Amino acid sequence: MSEKRSSFTGKIGFVLAAAGSAVGLGNIWRFPYLAAKYGGGIFLLVYIILAVTFGFALMAAEIALGRKTGQSAIGAFKSLDKRYSFVGVLASVIPAIILPYYSVIGGWVTKYLAVFVSGGASATAADDYFTGFISKTGEPVVWFLIFIALTAIIVLLGVEKGVEKVSKVMMPVLIALTIFIAVYSMFMPGAMEGVKYYLTPDFSKFSIKTVLAAMGQLFYSMSLAMGIMITYGSYMKKDVNLEKSVRQIEIFDTGIAFLAGLMIIPAVFAFSGGDESALGKGPSLMFITLPKVFDSMKGGTVIGAIFFLLVLFAALTSSISLMETVVSIVRDKFGWNRKAVCIGVLIFCIVLGLPSCFGFSIWGEIAVNGLSILDMFDFVSNSVLMPIVAFLTCIFVGYVLKPKALIEEVELSGPFKAKKLFTVVIKYIAPVCILLILISSVLDTLGIMKI
Ligand code: TRP
Repeated sequence: MSEKRSSFTGKIGFVLAAAGSAVGLGNIWRFPYLAAKYGGGIFLLVYIILAVTFGFALMAAEIALGRKTGQSAIGAFKSLDKRYSFVGVLASVIPAIILPYYSVIGGWVTKYLAVFVSGGASATAADDYFTGFISKTGEPVVWFLIFIALTAIIVLLGVEKGVEKVSKVMMPVLIALTIFIAVYSMFMPGAMEGVKYYLTPDFSKFSIKTVLAAMGQLFYSMSLAMGIMITYGSYMKKDVNLEKSVRQIEIFDTGIAFLAGLMIIPAVFAFSGGDESALGKGPSLMFITLPKVFDSMKGGTVIGAIFFLLVLFAALTSSISLMETVVSIVRDKFGWNRKAVCIGVLIFCIVLGLPSCFGFSIWGEIAVNGLSILDMFDFVSNSVLMPIVAFLTCIFVGYVLKPKALIEEVELSGPFKAKKLFTVVIKYIAPVCILLILISSVLDTLGIMKI
């Protein structure tokens, strides 16, 4: 018998570990700025529809693939059908693209924490504070290096478990604080307009871009289409209810993203006096809006400092898990020593992260369709590579392996209530939709067709 893979203990252990990977900057930083940019309510509606169909089916498929084979992405595909091992390889490239720019944002969070702790909070509420900060050449690089070094040190020392433990305590506090800030923002003068914008879908704002953005966000936020959930599945015990776990992770992840939107979007309206261009701020939205909220709040400096500390923890657990993934892929492939691989990955991340920093300063003129270098890395991973991997996964599960094989895996731990939905989404709906969206977005980017 081969060596037994260690498993997550207890029923809730699996859900918490997977949710820990899923919840990060994607929920708190990325979701609100996309929702603000892509029409508010309509984005939220499309996202939720995608989450309960695509998100559900893909996550169930990935976890089941992992649990069935007991292997992570590359091995899982390879052991089921050699011709499809490239899907696992492709999926494994994605974390390596995400980690560098993720760490740039992590650096911004670290900077804000430092400023709030050192008593400079009120300066951050000024309109051009954030732009002033990221357009400096050196400072954002230093914060990026601090964040990525912190991640690497934790991985090198192998103390991730400690960080995870702390973050399990921090997570509920983060949720409570997010609810508090959301309620506070909603009741600021002028904020109700924003609540309306966020909660009522305006169908005239719907376009294929809304769906593409929502789909990319879904993959990113739930750590799908990059092999992560396959790995998590490989550690899942056979008697843990797979369907229920997927639902719980989804509700958890979407719930936090929803709250983060409620915390930021109404505040954008309150501070911009109805000027809708404030909604299109992109990656900088959280860093511009939240300091204003804290500034207007009694005790805002302390609350802001606690908030950025909690977000830093959420970001660190994700960046650690991303780095772990990259390190273990390289080690599986080449069998090199762990320390050397960690340092290699660190250097790789620095090299790839620097352009994202410089894209707001000395390389500011490099932009495609208004996308900065950081946005471009983000676009390539979330809107191109992940849909391709998701498409190939659907084809593989739907037509090569056949959904039945995974349904049986899910049923080892109880009935699979949504198996019809699972089959239809994996075989027909998801591949067709993903392909259409992907083609139209590529044509749009190349300027051949406007969508
Ligand atoms: N889902 C994480 C977030 O919302 C980001 C992420 C993407 C991630 N892929 C990952 C985290 C892989 C850990 C492992 O921030």
